[in-house]
Amino acid sequence: MKVAVFGAGYVGLVTGACFAELGHDVVVRDVVEAKVDALRAGVVPIHEPGLDEILARNAERLTFTTDVAEAVEGADVVYIAVGTPPTYSGDADLSAVWTVVDELPAVDQRIVVAMKSTVPVGTGSAVRHRLDDRGLANVGYVSNPEFTAEGTAVQDFMHPDRIVVGAFDGADGDVVERLHDGIDAPIVRCDVPSAEMVKLAANAALVTRISFINEIANVCEATGADVTTVAEGIGLDRRIGPSFLRAGIGFGGSCFPKDSLALKQLAANSGYNFQLLNAVIEVNELQKRRVIGKLERRLGPLRGKRIALLGLAFKPGTDDMREAPSLVLAGRLLSEGADVRAWDPVANGAAHLHGVEIAETALAALDGADGAVVVTEWPELRELDWAAARERMRGNVIVDGRNHLDPEALRALGFVYEGMGRPVV
Ligand SMILES: NC(=O)c1ccc[n+]([C@@H]2O[C@H](COP(=O)([O-])OP(=O)(O)OC[C@H]3O[C@@H](n4cnc5c(N)ncnc54)[C@H](O)[C@@H]3O)[C@@H](O)[C@H]2O)c1
Repeated sequence: MKVAVFGAGYVGLVTGACFAELGHDVVVRDVVEAKVDALRAGVVPIHEPGLDEILARNAERLTFTTDVAEAVEGADVVYIAVGTPPTYSGDADLSAVWTVVDELPAVDQRIVVAMKSTVPVGTGSAVRHRLDDRGLANVGYVSNPEFTAEGTAVQDFMHPDRIVVGAFDGADGDVVERLHDGIDAPIVRCDVPSAEMVKLAANAALVTRISFINEIANVCEATGADVTTVAEGIGLDRRIGPSFLRAGIGFGGSCFPKDSLALKQLAANSGYNFQLLNAVIEVNELQKRRVIGKLERRLGPLRGKRIALLGLAFKPGTDDMREAPSLVLAGRLLSEGADVRAWDPVANGAAHLHGVEIAETALAALDGADGAVVVTEWPELRELDWAAARERMRGNVIVDGRNHLDPEALRALGFVYEGMGRPVV
């Protein structure tokens, strides 16, 4: 089939590359000319493991353009994979989605618009009305939400837990289902609002688990238990399972914070107060700030203290810093008067952080530091020469915001180590 993908971001590029891998002809359209030029020249503008290779391998089935007509020409399916960031009210900003819908040209053949962007429940119906108002009755609409995670997106796309296809017209759903031939996964066929809600509810379930284990960690800290052991113990219960039970400094990224806020607002706009989700979001905000208290307890007032932030991306395997806990931490540390130096192997800290010195290596970030915070659990930090780090630091405090390092090994080197929800010595 011929597929057009609107949006060459984290989702659009992976979607386009993976559909090409499945044998389809794909045109990816973006509004940012520089991005399209780079992609045409074989330069991938984001860090996503495996993406460069899959784009290169399928180059003859992939084209990139800024032109709407060129993208839609002869397409069977037009994917919308544009950003839906939060507005000031917390609702999803759908302006990029509406731009795509309004830009769609009239076509002779039947085409299906498939929504990959995460949108509030009701968006599909609103788009259907808009298409009808424009006289585009031969343009079908399907909700086909995306569940890939940055850092493992290519693998997740090719081996998903499920594919959700919500359609107004069964034949349009069939087209989108056929597009996935070659992928072995259960297909959930449903109505459009339910498909939209599956995406929001799945993310809400995951963030609820994260805030749950973070609160258990906080109680562990107050009572002397170790949350890593507790998580293992509860995760072995088949009714609970082990995933998303890693305590830490909270969730971030371009999806979890925005999607949980969007669901909270969607509920509120519909007259329902989603109390559990409100608490999940609040716990997450407080969790990011706990690191500051830990540093202050060890170092006293942070004014003039040098603090190293190790990792800036919201999680390892990506360069994405959208809503990363590192942004909140850096802001809080700077406002306390600390001198902040940061390192990340791929994220572009200089573009997102003002007033923070960006170091080329983790050891350079630790030079002369009074304390360090592990913000992202990059494997590089496990392999770091911590004995050399101890020599280069002025102080010896490590706050491990991801319970990523070995407490005993660090304490043996003379560090004062504190994790999240782990016993304090
Ligand atoms: N990032 C993820 O891992 C992930 C996972 C699941 C779902 N989602 C959802 O997918 C959507 C896209 O997320 P993302 O992270 O890829 O965003 P992104 O910001 O990385 O990419 C969006 C792209 O759309 C482009 N764009 C804007 N207007 C356009 C238009 N009119 N035509 C064509 N392109 C246009 C932008 O220039 C940008 O390149 C969001 O709704 C997000 O919630 C993201």
